[in-house]
Amino acid sequence: PRILILGAPGAGKGTQSANIADEFDVEHITTGDALRANKDMDISEMDTEYDTPREYMDQGELVPDDVVNAIVDEALSQADGFVLDGYPRNLEQAEELEDMTDLDVVLYLDVGEDELVHRLTGRRMDPETGDIYHVEYNPPEDPEVEGRLEQRDDDTEETVKERLRVYRENTEPVIEHYEEEGTLERVDGEQSPDEVWEDVKETIEDAA
Ligand code: AP5
Ligand code: ZN
Repeated sequence: PRILILGAPGAGKGTQSANIADEFDVEHITTGDALRANKDMDISEMDTEYDTPREYMDQGELVPDDVVNAIVDEALSQADGFVLDGYPRNLEQAEELEDMTDLDVVLYLDVGEDELVHRLTGRRMDPETGDIYHVEYNPPEDPEVEGRLEQRDDDTEETVKERLRVYRENTEPVIEHYEEEGTLERVDGEQSPDEVWEDVKETIEDAA
């Protein structure tokens, strides 16, 4: 299946996308991870305000559309089934996506703002596997893993606030767009990770 997963920063897109990729044997295409792996690539020839993605990401701003559209276009051309996470983040990107591919399911993980802040500031990443943890909700069992966990550069309180502001301004209209189109499948993202996964799995099975 071709799956789009939408949700605010910290809603659980990465967490559920890992489950989806495993269960449905699809590619996890994530613009956030792709950009983090290429934070210092030179994008100046695209006529951007800053020379690398880093400046945008560390401030919680969107990386320019041209850069992100190219990443997604390339990734989609190589994937059969996929779960797309982190894109589209504004109406211009949503329009681009419509030219690139059809979708079978559009999921929206619904989580309130207080919970988002708590999730993001407590998130930790395993730099070796890319696995996502939370100091409280989902700590690793292996002490060796615990010892190497890192915090994402943009998970500071100040940047989190800006990311949520950017989300409200640019990405909420995208949610409304799919809602009006009648394709949006809303999932209660404030349940436990396992409960969210049950709902996500069922929604995909019903739609695909
Ligand atoms: P990106 O990496 O996409 O970040 P984001 O959208 O802010 O989303 P997150 O990755 O922070 O959250 P998530 O929903 O994946 O949550 P997670 O599963 O990790 O983008 C980063 C930056 O890149 C952007 O700011 C921008 O600069 C740039 N960028 C990316 N895409 C772009 C685009 N298309 N255009 C322009 N710029 C772009 O979970 C969060 C935490 O909660 C974890 O600790 C997890 O363990 C925990 N958790 C998960 N589910 C639950 C649950 N059910 N209960 C309790 N805890 C849970
Ligand atoms: Zn993510």
